[in-house]
Amino acid sequence: MQTILVTGGMGFIGSNFIRYILNLNHDFKVVNLDKLTYAGNPENLKDIEQIYPERYNFYKADINDFETVDKIINKEKIEFIINFAAESHVDRSIDNPNVVVQTNVIGTQTLLNAVRKNKIKKYIQISTDEVYGSLSLDDPPFEENNRLKPNSPYSASKASGDLLVRAYFKTFQLPVNITRCSNNYGPYQFPEKLIPLMLNNALQDKELPVYGQGINVRDWIYVTDHCSAILKVLIEGREGEIYNIGADCEYSNINLIKKLLKIINKPESLISFVKDRPGHDLRYAINYNKIRKELHWKPEVNFREGLKLTVQWYLDNKNWLNNIITKEYLTFYEKQYLNR
Ligand code: NAD
Ligand code: DAU
Repeated sequence: MQTILVTGGMGFIGSNFIRYILNLNHDFKVVNLDKLTYAGNPENLKDIEQIYPERYNFYKADINDFETVDKIINKEKIEFIINFAAESHVDRSIDNPNVVVQTNVIGTQTLLNAVRKNKIKKYIQISTDEVYGSLSLDDPPFEENNRLKPNSPYSASKASGDLLVRAYFKTFQLPVNITRCSNNYGPYQFPEKLIPLMLNNALQDKELPVYGQGINVRDWIYVTDHCSAILKVLIEGREGEIYNIGADCEYSNINLIKKLLKIINKPESLISFVKDRPGHDLRYAINYNKIRKELHWKPEVNFREGLKLTVQWYLDNKNWLNNIITKEYLTFYEKQYLNR
């Protein structure tokens, strides 16, 4: 049995990854370390805790707390670390950059120090295509060797984390990989992000706040495809390498929202164009030829199928959604919405 420390495993992608790997491969044990911020939700893995009591363990802790991280690594005999823990929302990073830098930069460095002290076989930094900045509508998609030109406090903090990972590889020869994925969607995504927010609002016949003209383009990937790519990189990724992950699925926000409305049979009159996000990146698009050719990975879920699965999951899990719509959520949402 090999033991992986997953940080940020109570969030959207981390919890999907834990579910994916425990269901798929019985040779892995997972230790989940999560601070349980507003985005960390123990409900996401309640069933997993019961199905795999021997192969799953949870610690409430902060990746900035070196002593606790070090203690858990030793106690659980951790061999691999995958760092999903982050402040992941661009709008919140604009509202308050400090906490974003603390977790995404200092937290990453704290984990790297723990990797340095202990014999870890592989550390994976879960990064994002946003570190490359923004594309025009006719630019070619991002490649791994593109310059980093982040535009938001969130993407700048993720780029800083990536640079620390690179520096610890070059200087201390740590066994690392960085993955940079495009926009994820699927079950358990917090309804501050585009797809679950629009879905949640539309189901309640509330206005859908589209930033600017809705012409911004994002490149979408179903979350389990991201998970399978991470597992590939964990097992076969060459040390020190960066791997882009994507699924050739570009949509403008407005076209995506119209598609979503069609699936749930709601009118386009719910759409409301609001003030744009400051520094709003026009377009992301990812070239993932490297992982495709080197590691023989490819995405499996097409957008039509993925969007239907996602909508169905939210319809079947209205309680999960209702429990998240807390006072904190509504206060942030109102503040964002009223500011626009
Ligand atoms: P999320 O916000 O849903 O989850 C983040 C998790 O990290 C939460 O469980 C939270 O409690 C935890 N966390 C936050 N600060 C912590 C700290 N200091 N110590 C321990 N735990 C902490 O985010 P997500 O969408 O699942 O994203 C996961 C990772 O993937 C992030 O690193 C993000 O940058 C990256 N990523 C996300 C996307 C996307 O589309 N969502 C795409 C590419 C990359
Ligand atoms: O590209 C990967 C990144 O994708 C990840 O690194 C981030 O963690 C993740 O949050 C996501 O960032 P985006 O800013 O692209 O995602 P978000 O869902 O916040 O917004 C998607 C697009 O939709 C963006 O162009 C802004 C727009 N939008 C978003 C919201 C929340 C709206 O028009 N209205 C909204 O209410």
